[in-house]
Amino acid sequence: MTEISPILALANVSKSFPGVRALNDVSFSLYPGEVTALIGENGAGKSTIVKILTGIYIPDGGEIRVNGATQHFSSPRDSWGAGIAAIHQETVMFDELSVAENIFMGHMPGGHLIDWRDTKAKARALLASIEADFDADAKLKTLSVAQKHMVEITRALSHDANVIIMDEPTASLSRHEIDELFRIVAQLKAEGRAIIFISHKFDEIFRLSDRFVCLRDGEKVGEGMTSDVSEPDLVRMMVGRPVDQVFPKRDIPLGPTVLEIDGLSNATEFADVSLKLRKGEILGLYGLVGAGRSEAMQAVFGMSKPTAGRVKMNGQELTIHEPIDAIHAGISYVPEDRQEQGAFLPLGIRENITMASLSTHVRNFLLSRRSEQSAARALGGRLSVKAAHWEQSLGELSGGNQQKVVIAKWLATKPKLIILDEPTKGIDVGSKAAVHDFIGELAEDGLAVILISSELPEIMGLSDRVIVMHEGRIAARFERGVGTGALAWSAEAIVAAATGAPIEERAA
Ligand SMILES: Nc1ncnc2c1ncn2[C@@H]1O[C@H](COP(=O)(O)OP(=O)(O)OP(=O)(O)O)[C@@H](O)[C@H]1O
Ligand SMILES: [Mg+2]
Repeated sequence: MTEISPILALANVSKSFPGVRALNDVSFSLYPGEVTALIGENGAGKSTIVKILTGIYIPDGGEIRVNGATQHFSSPRDSWGAGIAAIHQETVMFDELSVAENIFMGHMPGGHLIDWRDTKAKARALLASIEADFDADAKLKTLSVAQKHMVEITRALSHDANVIIMDEPTASLSRHEIDELFRIVAQLKAEGRAIIFISHKFDEIFRLSDRFVCLRDGEKVGEGMTSDVSEPDLVRMMVGRPVDQVFPKRDIPLGPTVLEIDGLSNATEFADVSLKLRKGEILGLYGLVGAGRSEAMQAVFGMSKPTAGRVKMNGQELTIHEPIDAIHAGISYVPEDRQEQGAFLPLGIRENITMASLSTHVRNFLLSRRSEQSAARALGGRLSVKAAHWEQSLGELSGGNQQKVVIAKWLATKPKLIILDEPTKGIDVGSKAAVHDFIGELAEDGLAVILISSELPEIMGLSDRVIVMHEGRIAARFERGVGTGALAWSAEAIVAAATGAPIEERAA
């Protein structure tokens, strides 16, 4: 048997930032036709590897070899030239331009004289090769996240990239879109390309990857064939200890009704949403991506205007025009898209955590830095935010740690009702357990919690009741441990309701 040589190899790569060694002496290889899962906790160094391979960061030490030849990337252009392309955690494309322009940005066919007809035809052919369902003429901003990923993949193919890196590509995708992405990955594999796949979801890691490389605190702590390991093996490797992934549901006595929503509707996204929520209660909102859960809750929080319906807090009808009104009424909303809606990357962790609750840190008419610091430390610590120090700017944190800071920011407002939209998206397995534990504690402290999540074990593990939405309407209501047939407290019944199957079919 001949030894297959790697397409790409990292040899003893190290990278430090002030106060943190992000990568220490990391080596691994990528092989043609294989998917390598890069796994590790938030802040372990995964995205730093991506940025080194794509020429965004220059390593302090070590080497990158492409097909055996040592390469020095001093810009993204160099890495691109060596056949490496990436879909980043945060997309970097041009919303106002067309799909074709985004695909060929920086390397238009025809050199200096751009041949638009040719560009468009080439873009169409590439889109067709991955069976994309949109046109090369479409403006990027009209596409879904999944479609934008397809544009990025097409962009990589337009250059015939041999190494394709995907940094948490599935975080915002629906189940169907994930299937679609995986179909394309299988195709890329069959063509002999090497793929790096980064995800915090174990089912995806096992479904997609041939190999894994595990990082912890910037060091490689394990690698091998995925078929040789189990999920608990990987968890132990990532975290350094076993993690209990079960959800001990706390037994919390429920108080009076806190929130009452009656007939909430808007023109297109949700209709006739009615629900009640009691003090100490956790209500799960389940549904497929696009079912209208976030949109309905954003209307409660004043981010958009409903066309009909009422919202009452503690029996009092609210007039909410903007989020500040909701905050004053004791409502907090932790958005799903935290980078766009909740985080201020140039500001520090402390400032981000306290910015929505500054008034609570005023002492003698002055903002108390000390009070802010202790709040930031308490909440940040509780959510296990990993950072060099509390003044570090948010932009320097890893993706998952940025998310934890935004959750902390909304908790700091000491709300009566907190709406958490996909709170563990992008968060590693160990921190997930901390977040789950914290949600239970919030309920115990007398908060009412609405939990929007697409993860069924999470929603069933934490919630007292689950409301399922389908195409903007409430499709079914479930109560922990009760009900029979189509309305039984079971994963099957909840999923069936989310797909919109009629109740007779669901019972069958
Ligand atoms: N520009 C930077 N300045 C300072 N520190 C940085 C910078 N970029 C990354 N780091 C630090 O390097 C470490 C590794 O971060 P990285 O983004 O690679 O983590 P990750 O494994 O991708 O985590 P996640 O799962 O949260 O996305 C973190 O401690 C992070 O704060
Ligand atoms: Mg990352």
